Amino acid sequence: MTRHVRGMVWGLAVAGALVLAFAGLLGSGVLAGSGGGSSDIETQWAVSGHANEELAKEEATVEMRQAGAASCARCHASQGFQAWVAQLQAGQPGNLLGPDGKPASVEYMQSLGLTTAQVKPIDCDACHTETYELRIAGSTPMLPSGFAAHGVGSGALCMTCHNTRNGKVAWNATDPGRFTAPHHSAQADVIMGQNAYFVNVDAASFISPHAAFTGDACVTCHFELGEDGHKFEASRKVCVDCHGPEYTAARVEGPTRELLARTAKAYNERFMALYASKVKTADLWDPDTDKTSAGAPLDGTSIAGVELTAIHGQQGLKMTLRDGQVVYSQLAGLKGSDGKPVVPTSDPLVRGAWNYLMILWDGSYGVHNPAYTRAVLLATESALAQRP
Ligand code: HEC
Ligand code: HEC
Ligand code: HEC
Ligand code: HEC
Ligand code: HEC
Repeated sequence: MTRHVRGMVWGLAVAGALVLAFAGLLGSGVLAGSGGGSSDIETQWAVSGHANEELAKEEATVEMRQAGAASCARCHASQGFQAWVAQLQAGQPGNLLGPDGKPASVEYMQSLGLTTAQVKPIDCDACHTETYELRIAGSTPMLPSGFAAHGVGSGALCMTCHNTRNGKVAWNATDPGRFTAPHHSAQADVIMGQNAYFVNVDAASFISPHAAFTGDACVTCHFELGEDGHKFEASRKVCVDCHGPEYTAARVEGPTRELLARTAKAYNERFMALYASKVKTADLWDPDTDKTSAGAPLDGTSIAGVELTAIHGQQGLKMTLRDGQVVYSQLAGLKGSDGKPVVPTSDPLVRGAWNYLMILWDGSYGVHNPAYTRAVLLATESALAQRP
């Protein structure tokens, strides 16, 4: 047992009520089931993505992002998240605010420790209070993704960070008016059946039984039934615990991969048929240097095919040219002879890209919400296939 964890257990011993709960967990074997007991907690955490200090330095410090750290530090730094929770519970899921209620200043963020010297990743204090309770449980406050999740047990904590973070999507909008991509962390939106275009998420409840009827949603599969507790990894065999010995993730993932591939194909076909040849210039982005050459000449007839991605939070394309060269641009950066984006935000390509990336980046290939994932991908493929 490391010194840190021993100190922590002693902390629990001081909090009389909690020690009973803790002993109860040990006695009931819940702790053993979640990875061999408390001595493993710190080592499990240390090898998990949550302990990724480089990512916190990169995304959540004033040196790297200046005032923009007020967005990313909400979920990418322990200090940022802790400051944000109170604000969130007061109904303000937007960027970090200062004590005066105005957008957080660089000085204020320095005082929180959002600097390369002091920033902390998603550590014990991000998720737990001093008495090792979870900072958020049961239900979430209103999230940056424009919805709140009610009655989801300990999973509420996870959903507070693991959501698309870009506001509510109106499912039947004909023109979203933006090229925004969902964030990499689309899990809450997918498991709660929210924020897709082309499917009526208001009329039908697409909430997954895996969120509503497993007790603790994310935490049930990624912790309680997981093999390595605080690594928060879900085994692809976790299904057998509830669905019987023959049932594995592959049974849902295989068909989902097929639907994703069909959607990507429909996207490429639509772009090539309606827009590729109109491209005259592109904001060419170099993934190695992260530099963009705005307005670089690109003859659209040289594009052989495209794949969807995101570049700096915006929808982007990886384009393979007829000579085999691969180039990247944000979708908004592909311009025609009139100097305007060739693809209007009203084209189904833009809503389709949001849906596709949300399902892809959810990362569970349908497991989180099998019925919703299917409905979204089938509706997206069909919308992309319709020609004006
Ligand atoms: C304070 C924000 C925050 C909270 C709360 C949070 N996460 Fe994360 N999570 C992250 C970030 C940031 C990453 C990305 C880490 C990386 O890519 O290195 C991540 C990555 C992950 C991953 C990917 C695997 C890995 O190790 O990189 C899983 C799985 C995960 N989180 C599950 C959970 C679960 C389950 C909960 C709730 C118990 C949770 N997270 C709560 C921010 C959070
Ligand atoms: C609402 C919470 C939230 C906010 C705000 C947020 N992120 Fe994230 N971000 C996450 C989570 C959670 C993950 C991990 C997703 C996963 O593993 O599926 C993540 C992943 C990432 C990754 C990918 C890391 C990897 O290795 O795969 C990058 C890059 C990133 N975020 C950058 C940013 C930047 C830049 C900002 C600010 C403009 C930002 N994030 C704001 C929650 C957030
Ligand atoms: C991403 C969020 C997250 C992080 C980071 C995290 N925990 Fe936890 N921890 C949880 C959740 C969720 C539970 C399950 C409790 C529940 O469901 O009520 C838990 C449970 C516990 C428990 C109760 C015993 C058990 O294993 O069930 C202890 C003790 C604990 N954590 C300590 C730590 C320590 C020490 C660290 C840092 C090394 C840490 N946690 C980091 C989310 C987190
Ligand atoms: C029914 C069980 C279950 C529930 C509930 C669940 N997950 Fe998952 N999750 C999985 C499985 C299985 C995978 C795929 C794991 C793999 O292939 O390695 C996965 C994948 C992921 C990934 C991608 C992992 C990676 O390494 O990139 C993240 C992140 C994640 N889940 C977070 C969450 C969050 C956050 C929640 C709650 C909003 C949640 N999960 C709810 C079972 C579950
Ligand atoms: C903690 C228990 C639990 C785990 C673990 C679990 N499920 Fe479920 N699952 C449920 C419940 C409860 C339902 C809803 C009742 C039912 O259909 O049996 C459900 C429903 C489903 C459905 C029907 C979906 C729908 O929307 O109607 C599928 C498909 C499914 N699960 C697949 C999986 C896969 C694949 C895994 C493993 C990666 C898994 N489940 C893990 C509890 C679980």
